[in-house]
Amino acid sequence: MGYPDRAERDPVYDPFSYRLHEDPYPTYAWMREHAPLYRNDARDFWALSRYHDVRWALRDPRLFSSRNGISLEPDLWGPAAAKTSFFLAMDPPEHGKLRRLMGGTFKPRWVATMEPRVRELTRARLAPLRDGPTFDFADFGAAVPNDVMCEVIGIPAADRDAIRADNDLLNHCEDGTDKRSAATVAAGFRLAVYYVNLVNDRRRRRRDDLISVMLDATVDGEPLTDGQLVAFLFLMVSATNESTGKQIGIALYHGWRRPDVQRAGLNGRAADWANEALRYDSPSQMMARTLTEDTVLHGNRVPAGARVALLPASGNRDRRVFADPDRFDLDRDTSEMLSFGYGPHFCPGAALAQLEITVALEEIGTLVSGYEIDAANVRWVHSPHQRGFTSLPATVTRRPRAAHR
Ligand code: HEM
Repeated sequence: MGYPDRAERDPVYDPFSYRLHEDPYPTYAWMREHAPLYRNDARDFWALSRYHDVRWALRDPRLFSSRNGISLEPDLWGPAAAKTSFFLAMDPPEHGKLRRLMGGTFKPRWVATMEPRVRELTRARLAPLRDGPTFDFADFGAAVPNDVMCEVIGIPAADRDAIRADNDLLNHCEDGTDKRSAATVAAGFRLAVYYVNLVNDRRRRRRDDLISVMLDATVDGEPLTDGQLVAFLFLMVSATNESTGKQIGIALYHGWRRPDVQRAGLNGRAADWANEALRYDSPSQMMARTLTEDTVLHGNRVPAGARVALLPASGNRDRRVFADPDRFDLDRDTSEMLSFGYGPHFCPGAALAQLEITVALEEIGTLVSGYEIDAANVRWVHSPHQRGFTSLPATVTRRPRAAHR
């Protein structure tokens, strides 16, 4: 038996592989140390995994463009990406003109006014926890931010769970392939039809919601087209579900694996728990860019037009920036994390997301003094760019009298 050659020895970074989804961090660590510019020939992309490389690329949309979208699936990549991803798949100056239409919505001052309502919606989703000892943290974590975003946009309460289920299908990948399943395509179609009808309804009758704001907005004197409004809805609902919806479950999962974190987190340190979970294991694992000029990266000439995957979740574990990065540390300064991106596309929902995650953890802490996850029934999301759980069943220990609150 010979010594394995390099191709057999080195890990493969394939964002479509279910094996990677179980735990991508050892692969990222290897990439940062041994292949800071990684090449995946089979899927025809390069990848940058070190903190400073990722941040540099995110800050420079002239060289690292979003014009073909940020997802590597063949049917999502290309100049048509803006049809479903709206300004996420645009570069300055068009990007800024459209992003600005949201005005003060999602800015920190607006988010502060939302706190009571976020808490109310969170408590409503915690109702089953008052009735019994078992509870699915993944379902709860996904439901709360979806409820908040649907309410802000103007999607009726009765439709919210179906919207969330179709969004989850939209992001699902089959093991090892970048081809989309019939179920995924059908979910995209249902959502498109629903959004078209919603826009038509608001055209007839404005309400106090974000769709109505966008209907009245103009860019260079022109109102948005129906196609743009539908793309806006796709972007806002999926940006919430893909991220905050998953992050709450991720925080609870890591709290289960570390009893000291769980204890402190359930007893007053929810905000630190939320922030360190964002750094340690973020739902936004990867976003792609198009290189606009031939560029030398780590000694290799990468041609204009190449697809470059940027890995903020790997940057967040880079020891060049975070001391002892694989340790979950509630006392850590997380302000440098890349979880919400960087540069012109920096997540406009960051403040809302931080509020939602913190409130979710706080509200669980008011009801529960501890919990165990049923490890045998934990299920990871399978997506090339997103991380989280579809199932995270927990058995909880309720605080005395919590059931009567
Ligand atoms: C844990 C929660 C969240 C995480 C980790 C997250 C992460 C990110 C990241 C990394 C980007 C940058 C993408 C890129 O550069 O290509 C982004 C953009 C975006 N996010 Fe979030 N996000 C979260 C929550 C939210 C929420 C609650 C909203 C709702 C307002 C939201 C709306 C958006 C939008 C609209 C963009 C596109 C921004 C642009 O292209 O200018 N996100 N998010």
